[in-house]
Amino acid sequence: MDQNRTPYFDVLLDYVDSGVIPFHTPGHMQGHGMDPAFREFVGDNVLAIDLTQIRGLDDLLQPEEAIDEAQKLAAEAYGADHSFFLINGSTSGNQIMMMAACNPGEEIALPRNSHKSAMGGLIMSGVRPVYMQPEVDESLHMDHTVTPETVRRTLREHPGIRAVYVVSPTYYGVAADLRGIAEVAHEHGVPLLVDEAWGPHFHFHPDLPMDALEAGADLCINSTHKMLGSMSQTAMLHHRGPRIPIDRLKAVVKLFLSTSPNLVLVASLDVARRQMATQGRALLDTTIARANDIRKRLNEIDRVYCFGEELRGRPGVFDLDPTKITITVKELGYTGYEAEEILRRRYNVQCELADLFNSLALITIGTTQQAADRLVYGVSELAREDRPIDVFSPSGVLERRLSTGTYNLPKIPPVVMLPREAFLAPTEFVPFKQSVGRICAEVITPYPPGIPVLSPGEEITREVVDYLKLELDAGVRMQGPYDSELRSIRVVKQ
Ligand SMILES: Cc1ncc(COP(=O)(O)O)c(C=O)c1O
Repeated sequence: MDQNRTPYFDVLLDYVDSGVIPFHTPGHMQGHGMDPAFREFVGDNVLAIDLTQIRGLDDLLQPEEAIDEAQKLAAEAYGADHSFFLINGSTSGNQIMMMAACNPGEEIALPRNSHKSAMGGLIMSGVRPVYMQPEVDESLHMDHTVTPETVRRTLREHPGIRAVYVVSPTYYGVAADLRGIAEVAHEHGVPLLVDEAWGPHFHFHPDLPMDALEAGADLCINSTHKMLGSMSQTAMLHHRGPRIPIDRLKAVVKLFLSTSPNLVLVASLDVARRQMATQGRALLDTTIARANDIRKRLNEIDRVYCFGEELRGRPGVFDLDPTKITITVKELGYTGYEAEEILRRRYNVQCELADLFNSLALITIGTTQQAADRLVYGVSELAREDRPIDVFSPSGVLERRLSTGTYNLPKIPPVVMLPREAFLAPTEFVPFKQSVGRICAEVITPYPPGIPVLSPGEEITREVVDYLKLELDAGVRMQGPYDSELRSIRVVKQ
């Protein structure tokens, strides 16, 4: 196929060129009815191609013309049998993968630190989770990926598992041994689903980790918007091989699509694919070199550390994406949150994410040399103006974590009810301290490390309550619960 073509972007341009007089959605009628201030800012062109799925513009739910061709081009570019354009991110991709691979009540193996959209997938699909603990890195206070050994053990212990689902790479750019995991899954006769939200660029450069499809995944999702040039909300779902029936997959994809998709988003996937297929190698050459240079310069700053190749081979670290830069600031006496805040306020630099010890910077094909220099400058100034560690952190979170270690996570509690059943059951709030023995109806995730300690359908154990009390006392934030201070917890009504 001709990867220089952008069939979907082209039909939108043709529609505009033909001067059609619109009597169809969206109601702003190619910008004429749009609020003038907004229109002036975003420009006429983007509104002119904000169209609906009328004749000639194909149908994302039943693609037969230009969208079909654009998706086939994407499949060829990524080495997939089929690719699907998604407009609700990898969030919908996770949900689709689970519903396509398993029936209600069947078991799926998944890492305990999966993205929250995977929990949404469990709730929607009615699938039973068998959690796998990812490898934890105590020195970096970070969790990595699951290993093939963990997957093998899980499949042996739970012969009923119908699919293996893993996350690779992690937010921090650590990649799993996907080839090893695919072999284990396939030996057991089950498909491998990969949340590769953070790896849409992997396929296009040999110095990046092997992409999930090449490693043998049966389904994978890519948040094209995260690391490539398409617009927010866009993602691709790729399918390869016979293990996931394509008719089932197509039917599930349809459930997750709007009948009024934003065609600007769809076209942005088409052009992002062309960009990667035709110039990906060269663009990523520059990006990787720039990222490596930034990492080197940051590591030259006293007490600033950005991990790199030296991590390879640690448990759960099979490979690394050099374009993710984790700036570890704990030796400066700052939390990652504080560093993020200072970088933003003083140097107008905004990181992607912060946790207790790190701020994370993404380097992509859109990162300029000027931006790179600004990041290095901001961090070097931050290091120069540091505060001594002993006057820091009135709540004691940092010191506590440093002195006691972070990761004595409690055992995963018994799953006594499907997440879907617990989520939909009548629930009530009970005092957290008196909740032992009850069935949890929400997700409780101390952050960091971001690994859920309780999920819907799990029995609340004494060990979990004691652990969470320690975390709360240390000032750790809880993600997920309705009562974020966890004085009460939502449980299934008895
Ligand atoms: C590992 C992982 N999977 C899935 C998602 C959801 O992706 P999206 O924001 O494209 O819906 C995220 C978002 O950060 C993520 O980190």
